[in-house]
Amino acid sequence: MKNAIETKDLTKVYSNNFTAVNSLNLEIPNKTIFGMLGPNGAGKTTTIKMLTCLIQPTSGQATVGGFDVQKNPDEVRNLLGMVPQQVSLYKDLTVMENSQLCADYYGVPQDERDSRIEDLMELVDIKYAKDKRVGQLSGGQKQKASLVASLVHRPDILFLDEPTIGLDPTTKRILWDLIRELNDSGHTIILCSHDMHEVDMLCDNVGIINTGNLVAYDTPQGLKDSLLESNKQEMAEALSKISDENDVSAQEDIDNLSLRKMSILLKNQDDEIIESIKQSDDVKKIEIAHNGRLNLKIDSFDDMAVQNVLDTISFSGGVIKSVSTEEPSLEDVFIKATSEVNEDDRA
Ligand SMILES: Nc1ncnc2c1ncn2[C@@H]1O[C@H](COP(=O)(O)OP(=O)(O)O)[C@@H](O)[C@H]1O
Ligand SMILES: [Mg+2]
Repeated sequence: MKNAIETKDLTKVYSNNFTAVNSLNLEIPNKTIFGMLGPNGAGKTTTIKMLTCLIQPTSGQATVGGFDVQKNPDEVRNLLGMVPQQVSLYKDLTVMENSQLCADYYGVPQDERDSRIEDLMELVDIKYAKDKRVGQLSGGQKQKASLVASLVHRPDILFLDEPTIGLDPTTKRILWDLIRELNDSGHTIILCSHDMHEVDMLCDNVGIINTGNLVAYDTPQGLKDSLLESNKQEMAEALSKISDENDVSAQEDIDNLSLRKMSILLKNQDDEIIESIKQSDDVKKIEIAHNGRLNLKIDSFDDMAVQNVLDTISFSGGVIKSVSTEEPSLEDVFIKATSEVNEDDRA
């Protein structure tokens, strides 16, 4: 079996006739981390609910681990673990009791049950609160408790619906490490998140969902590369407009698309160095900020532009203290992918 998850024209129309997921076709390869992005209301949670057999699709098919979610829901449930967007543990039970309940539901052998739970609690650092009632925990502690409960039957496929929302930076990192470890040991992970950095860093593939449809699917790098490519095309169009119609307002768009920022702080800054940077063909604009940083605009599409600027500086005796450049981010991809569809909708 190549794919952990496959959907074919998967559709959910809620009882009020609202189509939340619209003919979704998605493949998630086995043992990978898949990031599901999309604006609020895009249909992510609805998709996850169908894949985890919490709600029935209206039409179309989905298989999880090779099992059909409608024909073999029990087999599907046994394969998966789920950390829902809203923690669904019993508030009046303790962390330990909730995990035991889950373990018993999935038929975890009694003699292994408590030691498995305690190992997981140690892993996510929540053992200290094992006898606390879930209702008394902080948001982050609840997330950890939810994770323990969802992992106790060692699911092949783990669904995480916005798992790091509201977590402090340290706890976030623990969770990221855990997601990587689980994936290294062969688990497939489906991660819904609004945290672009998280998705970029963790995921093998990313799908962007908008108004119930898949609007982009690639590796994080692939998405960023194709954004650059489409920016290039847009720029060519804007350029042709300028020559055709003398449309001056297009100049700003062209600058936005064709230039990116590079910011440099030098240890030694003198007029000679600045002059050599100004003379460089790769530097389109230069500005010296109050704090002494040199803010440059360089060509977005020239792979060598950064290196050339650095070479120019060191050739004229400049010593670089720090440098940063602006790369296209997953956030840029997200905004573009989700705004294009909205524009189509309006048309
Ligand atoms: N039970 C329901 N009945 C009617 N509409 C719903 C129901 N659940 C969700 N929706 C609607 O479906 C759309 C998708 O919701 P959801 O899947 O939760 O989106 P996401 O998780 O991407 O934010 C939203 O417009 C939401 O209001
Ligand atoms: Mg959601």
